[in-house]
Amino acid sequence: MINKIQGLITEVEAFSSANVEEIEQFRIKFLSKKGIVTDLFNEFKNVPQDAKKEFGLVLNILKNKAQEKVEFLKQNIEEDESGKVKIDLSLPGDIETLGTRHPISIVRNEIIEIFTRLGFTISEGPEIEDDWHVFSALNFAEDHPARDMQDTFFIEKNPDILLRTHTSSVQVRVMENEKPPIRTISPGRVFRNEAISARAHCIFHQVEGLYIDTNVSFADLKQTLLYFAKELFGEKTQIRLRPSFFPFTEPSAEMDISCSLCGGKGCNVCKYTGWLEILGCGMVDPNVLESNGIDSVKYTGFAFGMGIERITMLKYGVRDLRLYFENDVRFLRQF
Ligand code: DAH
Repeated sequence: MINKIQGLITEVEAFSSANVEEIEQFRIKFLSKKGIVTDLFNEFKNVPQDAKKEFGLVLNILKNKAQEKVEFLKQNIEEDESGKVKIDLSLPGDIETLGTRHPISIVRNEIIEIFTRLGFTISEGPEIEDDWHVFSALNFAEDHPARDMQDTFFIEKNPDILLRTHTSSVQVRVMENEKPPIRTISPGRVFRNEAISARAHCIFHQVEGLYIDTNVSFADLKQTLLYFAKELFGEKTQIRLRPSFFPFTEPSAEMDISCSLCGGKGCNVCKYTGWLEILGCGMVDPNVLESNGIDSVKYTGFAFGMGIERITMLKYGVRDLRLYFENDVRFLRQF
């Protein structure tokens, strides 16, 4: 009997196949309910007492070797010659969870697309800037409050270096490097020393626009922004310009759009005025052109700047700025 089992062990050891059917036959022969191993275990009770121990021992060896062989051969089949695991096309696939774009990216891309259609190029500048590009070249007076520590993050070791507070600094970079006609927008991150709340954050995003050529007028600015507003918020959108002040534009204005939520009738988002402020703009101040080596007699231009967070809030009805930065997927998946 023992000899018979040893013979079976040799048979198991010698067996090899790369064929699924053959391996399955082997498994059935040795390991199924009606297979050799089960039969032999059933024999166990008939084995004389003094031989039981040895019988049990070799039988277990046979069982283990048969199981190992089946597993080994099956695994071999799953790997092809290059050692790579073969794909079993009958298995259900893994579901790939697709990410979604961040709402700020969606709106930034839409803004870029609209201005690109009008022939604007995209330009970028550094987030860590110097005083000249953020303030001085943009006609900010020495004592302008924006230069205050309370508004601007300065680098302690060198107060001439700071985190840009607006993307208007890219205007300066562009004027330094290009000759008119200039038609460009500059999307980017900006930084201000603000306490974080639902309505303010120390990091946010802006898109700056700059158009310089001969004979550029305020009418060009207005028409460009009207087109932009209609493209972004819908054909029925109206705009209105209110006089304002920025050091780098003269005259300056703030632009409102008719409330995209109530259509101008008045609601709690537009505070029952029917209008929402979305950007600052104006005609580039001749001082700014001259500071940047552009002849202010020959050329005129307009500029505008808008906050992407604010526009995204208005477009999607987001009420809390902090949501943009928390990156909670339950929020992000909704766009
Ligand atoms: N830089 C301004 C800000 O951060 C926005 C702005 C206003 C940009 C008027 C402009 C402009 O180019 O003409 O509030």
